[in-house]
Amino acid sequence: MTAAPGVAIVHVSDVHFGRDCDLVQIEALETFFPTLGAQAIALSGDLSQRARHGELQAAHAFVQRLRAVLPTLVIPGNHDVQWWASPFGVRGSAPLYRKYRRYFGEELTPTLAIPGAVLASALTSFGVSPGSLTPRLRDMAVKGHLPRSETDRVRDIFAKAPAGAAKVLVMHHNVLPGKISERMGLAHWRDAQRRLQETGADVVLCGHDHQEGAGQVSGRLAVSAAGTHTTRTRGRRPSVFNVVRVDRDSVHIQHYRWEAHGRHFLPSDRYTFMRGDPRHAAVSVAGGDQPR
Ligand SMILES: [Fe+2]
Repeated sequence: MTAAPGVAIVHVSDVHFGRDCDLVQIEALETFFPTLGAQAIALSGDLSQRARHGELQAAHAFVQRLRAVLPTLVIPGNHDVQWWASPFGVRGSAPLYRKYRRYFGEELTPTLAIPGAVLASALTSFGVSPGSLTPRLRDMAVKGHLPRSETDRVRDIFAKAPAGAAKVLVMHHNVLPGKISERMGLAHWRDAQRRLQETGADVVLCGHDHQEGAGQVSGRLAVSAAGTHTTRTRGRRPSVFNVVRVDRDSVHIQHYRWEAHGRHFLPSDRYTFMRGDPRHAAVSVAGGDQPR
């Protein structure tokens, strides 16, 4: 059997170690990932429930086990930020990430280069911050925002990527609305979507909404949304992680759905989007969520 062309990334999100984490799924993920023919793993945030030491320690052990198998990129989500330690930045930004950094290192926006792909990441989790505020007050520590400095930095990273390399951007908050929640993860999302397209990314990997999804920003930029591996899925739907494959012309997003009775993940829906400038691509387009 010949290997599928291109580069494949396992995309998993919102494992939320703590009260609601489904450890049976975690163990299934660990045994399943090495069988998928992927070249890297991306965890798009919310490793913990309340940024507690025990939760982050369990997440650290999980990531170490994944790294024994494949290069793994990890970023923080809003649940990994100690927003109460410095609301509105009154004590600076350092207290927000102190615990996360203790277990996952200083770098909040790591980059991972592998043969055929560059994975960059953008920080959208800033706790209770002016940039993340929306009129809905209860979203105060939930929403994220995408600063211009982040998209500028990512654009520069991708500009230096080898010719033809897949450019994969990993961030926590969803950039397309959830199908059930109908909600965006980001404040000021229109501006964020516009700048995301200017980074040169082929695909954005995100989570946060707890429902899987595959779509495009403005019919051009593919988006992979992974679900959660907790009991807190949207609409009590099965948990889902994705395998994102980028080949010369296309971005393929394959969902894998948790089957609780069999205690395993099964291939579910698959979407294919054209890669790069649509004028130079000729493949079918599926999905295509447009924000409301
Ligand atoms: Fe989140």
